[in-house]
Amino acid sequence: MSHPALQIEALSVTLPTARGIVHAVRNVNLAIAAGEMLALVGESGCGKSVTAQAIMGLLPDSARTHAHTALFNKQPLLTGKYQKNIAMIFQNPMATFNPVLTIGYQIAEPLRLLHGYSRKDAEHETVRLLERMQIADARQKSLRYAHEFSGGMLQRAAIAMALACKPELLIADEPTTALDVSTQAEVMALLTELRVEKNLSMLFITHDLGLVSHHADRIAVMYAGEIIETASTSSVLDNPAHPYTRALLAALPIRHSNARLAALEGSPPDLRFPPPACAFAERCAKAMPICIQQSPPVVEQHHAARCWLHNTGHTHE
Ligand SMILES: Nc1ncnc2c1ncn2[C@@H]1O[C@H](COP(=O)(O)OP(=O)(O)OP(=O)(O)O)[C@@H](O)[C@H]1O
Ligand SMILES: [Mg+2]
Repeated sequence: MSHPALQIEALSVTLPTARGIVHAVRNVNLAIAAGEMLALVGESGCGKSVTAQAIMGLLPDSARTHAHTALFNKQPLLTGKYQKNIAMIFQNPMATFNPVLTIGYQIAEPLRLLHGYSRKDAEHETVRLLERMQIADARQKSLRYAHEFSGGMLQRAAIAMALACKPELLIADEPTTALDVSTQAEVMALLTELRVEKNLSMLFITHDLGLVSHHADRIAVMYAGEIIETASTSSVLDNPAHPYTRALLAALPIRHSNARLAALEGSPPDLRFPPPACAFAERCAKAMPICIQQSPPVVEQHHAARCWLHNTGHTHE
């Protein structure tokens, strides 16, 4: 990737809690090209949402964020300011909308406030966006309230609202987790269409490796605040290098019986006290003495795993 649109190098985030400082994101590198979807995958609590919130500028003031490089389209991120060209959609679309304002009003708002549309033009564009999201009777629907929408329809309206910001990067944090399987597939298909149509960069966050296998260009696997493997989707799925990624993939078939990644034995480390070497060593069947003594090399953009089993003396392959 010559000029990634999103360029994050050595991002770290700590969050103070009543029980101590949590090292939620540790030395993370991420790059996403224009028009590319990167899936950020990993089990609960590994730091996916905190990574997204750091990029978006949504972390609480108490968070400490540090990065060697943090750029989107050459503009600095992590300035503590709201990022106008980045939009985000969340797991629960009900929480995205204000219950006492119409859906249409809320989609029109960024058009008027950020992009200077007149009221009439904003209404017109709102209807167009809802239609684009395959919402029938869009004009009528735009006058309705969140509780009058089904979950899938509301998530599509949330994507319409994100698009009203005219983003160049869309961050989707578990946007289909609350939806049933067929609605999930519809939303995924829409996101992929939009990515191609608008050359959007997308950061797609999920627990679910299976969900992204047909949609993401690349996958970054996160564990205990670190990215432990990143490569093209087919490379990760066909040739997983890190034992953790292999365990995730092995857990996939039982996903269909509703068992989640919890099927993996043991639990991730307490991020108040991140292990000094490999964070996965304790759960890893292949762990060697060096794994608990020294950190494996940081993952670069090509297919590489942050794992001593794959240490070839350099991190580019
Ligand atoms: N606002 C916050 N204040 C303090 N700690 C936080 C805050 N947000 C997240 N954390 C902690 O940071 C770590 C990473 O959390 P994060 O929400 O990024 O995980 P995640 O990968 O998104 O998990 P999930 O899949 O459950 O959404 C966790 O230990 C979590 O408890
Ligand atoms: Mg999360």
